[in-house]
Amino acid sequence: MSSTPIIVVKDLGKSVNLGQESLTILEGIDLQVNSGETVALVGASGSGKSTLLGLLAGLDLPSSGRIEILGKSLGELDEEGRARLRAEQIGFIFQSFLLLPTMSALENVMLPAELRGERNCEPRARELLAAVGLSERLHHLPPRLSGGEQQRVAIARAFMTRPSLLLADEPTGNLDSKTGEKVIALLFELNRQYGTTLVVVTHDQTLAERCQRQLVMVAGKLEREVSHGVV
Ligand SMILES: Nc1ncnc2c1ncn2[C@@H]1O[C@H](COP(=O)(O)OP(=O)(O)OP(=O)(O)O)[C@@H](O)[C@H]1O
Ligand SMILES: [Mg+2]
Repeated sequence: MSSTPIIVVKDLGKSVNLGQESLTILEGIDLQVNSGETVALVGASGSGKSTLLGLLAGLDLPSSGRIEILGKSLGELDEEGRARLRAEQIGFIFQSFLLLPTMSALENVMLPAELRGERNCEPRARELLAAVGLSERLHHLPPRLSGGEQQRVAIARAFMTRPSLLLADEPTGNLDSKTGEKVIALLFELNRQYGTTLVVVTHDQTLAERCQRQLVMVAGKLEREVSHGVV
């Protein structure tokens, strides 16, 4: 496995202004993730996991510190540059799915590949939807799908472009254990087959333990790391 850094984070901080006061959400985060690694981000609700993931995706800007993704400093890219990096290299699964409500499940999954100008992406989209157990829901619009089904469409969509980096926020959060297992298997298959680096926020201990590294967040800081099998 290559040890090229895919993520380098230095002294990252995020605070927001709430009227007169400033609220610190993240503070002093240092992190390096190498290509092909699987990393679980764990910690209590409100500890800053989703905020960190959003910063790594370049969806939000830090208040201090820097982030490099694949050697590119996010702070030095403009909005368009960050969007391009995301489209080309990064897949996400958000806590709130972000599916387009007027497009069918199949169209939602095909979209990221179509945006990249790929042709004939329907077979792979169908294959991925089958893998998450949604072959019978291809033409449903997201509002007609259950929460867990929407999450599975979002997962299939994130896999569509075989990203170098997959950022997933609670990918198994709304799923029953059997479907959750399938999704976990897909995540690790993507890692194995394509070397996709996984950074996964999760409260699911089974998923966290299957990752090579577990980073524990406490109140906006990376408190400690648990490497595979060692506490
Ligand atoms: N834009 C914002 N304005 C004010 N507070 C915010 C903002 N974004 C996040 N926070 C606060 O920052 C803290 C961290 O939020 P975050 O969503 O990153 O937590 P989390 O670890 O993902 O939690 P959960 O496990 O519940 O999803 C929370 O206390 C949240 O209320
Ligand atoms: Mg969260």
